[in-house]
Amino acid sequence: MSTDPSQLEKSAKRVFIETLGCQMNKADSENMFGLLGEIGYEQTLDEKNADLLVLNTCAIREGAEEKVYSYLGVWGKRKRKQPNLMIAVGGCVAQDKGESLLTRIPYVDVVFGTHNLHRLPDLVMQAQQEKRQVAELFQELPEDLPELPVIRQSDLSAWVSIIYGCDYNCTYCIVPYVRGREKSRTPEVIEKECLELAASGYLEVTLLGQNVTAYGHDLNPVIHLGDLIRRVGKIDQLKRIRFMTGHPRDLQDGIIDAINEVENACEHFHIPIQAGNDRTLKRMARGYQVDFYKRLIEKIRSKMPDASITSDLIVGFPGETEAEFLDTVRLVEDVAFDACNTAAYSPRPHTHSASWEGQVPESEKFERLRYLNAVIGEVSNRINKRYLGRKVEVLVEGLSQRDASRVMGRTRTNKIVNFDGDVSLKGKLVDVEILSANTWALRGSLCATARATANIK
Ligand code: SAH
Ligand code: SF4
Ligand code: F3S
Repeated sequence: MSTDPSQLEKSAKRVFIETLGCQMNKADSENMFGLLGEIGYEQTLDEKNADLLVLNTCAIREGAEEKVYSYLGVWGKRKRKQPNLMIAVGGCVAQDKGESLLTRIPYVDVVFGTHNLHRLPDLVMQAQQEKRQVAELFQELPEDLPELPVIRQSDLSAWVSIIYGCDYNCTYCIVPYVRGREKSRTPEVIEKECLELAASGYLEVTLLGQNVTAYGHDLNPVIHLGDLIRRVGKIDQLKRIRFMTGHPRDLQDGIIDAINEVENACEHFHIPIQAGNDRTLKRMARGYQVDFYKRLIEKIRSKMPDASITSDLIVGFPGETEAEFLDTVRLVEDVAFDACNTAAYSPRPHTHSASWEGQVPESEKFERLRYLNAVIGEVSNRINKRYLGRKVEVLVEGLSQRDASRVMGRTRTNKIVNFDGDVSLKGKLVDVEILSANTWALRGSLCATARATANIK
């Protein structure tokens, strides 16, 4: 069935999208807004005003999946009062559960997966016109990746997906199951998108993928992330190029060199190690040992001493002993991470380790998590104090949430900086002198020279 906007009612309808999960989902939701815009849906920020509610779901941990059912519970009540309200569920839980969601939750109208976003308008129209539930899932992305319309949620900083899927098979992780095999977009389409972003005033792009450091291995000719960064880096109007998430094993020298040499590439490396113990890493099937990771960090820091290094860490992986857990704590201190996302291991469907013996009791996992977070907090605090007295370049994102006389922005190393200023600074690159620092953020004062030039964009 084809999308024919003329079949729709003339008056604009409104869509509200709730996005759970990672940056990939955020980027996908921007495509959903773009796609639904083409059949006459405008975005609303208030779900009470919506004609269509879309839930973009995450399956990474049980807690993330539970959120899906609690959102749908609330939306179900809303639908009882507003029977024409349509509800669509997409993303990673939808990809995993598929049609069964329609039976489990009979008031859901549309289920679509991670590989057929481009079909969303058709599926919504089909459910509307045929007045029935519709589910469609693809096992893989289409051979020719469709270029999707997009309505971005920020006018400053843009997500640019460069590679989809993940070819690793970490024993705890559901992502390969719900996101499929790696598939890179061509450098030509990525460059075109970045040029358009620069032309519309964007100053920052984040090159996105579950495994961006594997970018380009499936292209002909083969290229790597460093080549792409050099290419996108030539776009002068883009002041900051970021990338997320990298896998330590694929972070080859050519990528590190490109980040070092390309002026607008930011020196922030989010390269999750997951655990600080070799036996655990092996059982996670991560494909490297702690020593390899430490050498990688040394390599980065020898070229970029001020680079920030962040990681994801899992505690309570099945069979992880107390001593092995303490290796992770030690690693945090040895490496001195700028920040870490931490999580208690959660057994997931379609993963090997879910059925292993030696599952760590919940109470023990949370005790480990609490302890690890406390250490990470101390280390972050120590690192952030190094910024005291320094002048840093800040891209101002807008007014501070807490205090309207302040603005908030980020350093190239992705540190949050708050300082006195007004909304006219939004979207400006300014120099800020750092006067205080804690675990989560830096505080400073706009430098005099920056005050004079702040209005020149
Ligand atoms: N591709 C990235 C991470 C993707 S998932 C990488 O390989 O590093 C984001 C994070 O979720 C992971 O880094 C991991 O720390 C966490 N995660 C994944 N599966 C998990 C599980 N079953 N339980 C707890 N945390 C998990
Ligand atoms: Fe999951 Fe591992 Fe792939 Fe990361 S590399 S998405 S943790 S399977
Ligand atoms: Fe979650 Fe899917 Fe991202 S499982 S972390 S939304 S790829």
